[in-house]
Amino acid sequence: MSLLITGGTGYIGSHTVVELLALDKDIVIVDNLSNSSTLVLDRIKEITGKTVTFIKADICDEQAMDQVFSEHNIDAVIHFAGLKAVGESSEIPLSYYHNNVSGSVTLLQVMAKHQVKNLVFSSSATVYGENNESPLVETMPTSATNPYGQTKLMIENILFDLAKSDASWSIACLRYFNPIGAHESGLIGENPNGIPNNLLPYVSQVAVGRLPQLQVFGDDYDTVDGTGVRDYIHVVDLAIGHVKAVEKLTEISGCKPINLGTGNGTSVLEIVNSFREISGQEIPYSVQPRRAGDIATVFANAEVANKLLGWHAQRDLNAMITDTWRWQSNNPNGFE
Ligand code: NAD
Ligand code: UD1
Repeated sequence: MSLLITGGTGYIGSHTVVELLALDKDIVIVDNLSNSSTLVLDRIKEITGKTVTFIKADICDEQAMDQVFSEHNIDAVIHFAGLKAVGESSEIPLSYYHNNVSGSVTLLQVMAKHQVKNLVFSSSATVYGENNESPLVETMPTSATNPYGQTKLMIENILFDLAKSDASWSIACLRYFNPIGAHESGLIGENPNGIPNNLLPYVSQVAVGRLPQLQVFGDDYDTVDGTGVRDYIHVVDLAIGHVKAVEKLTEISGCKPINLGTGNGTSVLEIVNSFREISGQEIPYSVQPRRAGDIATVFANAEVANKLLGWHAQRDLNAMITDTWRWQSNNPNGFE
């Protein structure tokens, strides 16, 4: 029996594959390489000593996906594949709806045809929208403020409807908070295309000299030092959360939303200061107006993951930043 990992050469997917290989799982990766490279596969092999089956295919391609399920004995799917840049999603919304929503529907149709009804889906804390107060709990109302967030919310709703229509589906809808860090080997990590949108890749590219300075979006929030507070989670903890979710799928009936966060909040300036200390590099920054769509404070209530999956995050901020820096300084130009 094999696990199909869509988007498995991407940032979170590759870390999850490493954790699954440690448990001797058979892995089939499907990725169209729109935001990743096959060099990741060499690094995965270097870390684990194991190989995976890699298929270059698009989840929107029904025929190709059908062939994957015909040729491999898949018993569960972890579905990471998707476009994820919030700003870009407002510029090219149709690409986001097509790739993320239509792609997921195609994948689900092929899964149903092959009687594979075990799924772990990459959702996001973005589905909590702007109107809930942290700590965020899975039962809170959901909403979206940009096309990317809409795609996550639409897919979640599709999954709830699907599970209601057919009780044989087991779906874990994992709502990630802010994944950062890298594998402790320094061999795999986040490798954004172009100028990063998210805080940690931006800060690490400033530290390594690829970008001149950080812009801090707002210092007048009602937080510890006026800058935005988020729940940063080590990507390896997140990966382990997926392993636990796959193992517990048989105990989940229907579609279950589950937060994966630490439950702690850290401000932008706290990140900058820790990064400066750990890397020994200067991180010049200037304070800019607030970024549209940002809110002051976002952090998780992680009790459901703890109770249902027996999971909690184990790596602290120091490990997250140390590992981010090791990856960035060893690979200043990513995988190239
Ligand atoms: P990533 O871009 O590194 O990985 C996604 C992978 O999917 C890439 O390798 C890309 O080539 C592939 N892909 C995209 N569209 C595809 C398609 N149509 N067919 C096949 N492959 C396709 O992103 P990531 O950070 O690893 O994120 C993984 C998932 O987690 C995404 O769905 C993302 O929306 C979600 N997520 C990420 C974050 C985050 O901060 N990184 C937060 C919340 C949710
Ligand atoms: C962003 C997305 C969210 C997505 C998440 C993870 C927006 C509005 N939200 O969330 O949908 O799920 O990434 O991919 O884009 N910051 C700076 N300077 C920077 C970058 C960020 O000060 O150059 C600040 C932000 O204002 C925020 C914090 O750093 O307070 C974290 O930002 P970011 O990494 O972009 O994550 P989110 O805003 O939480």
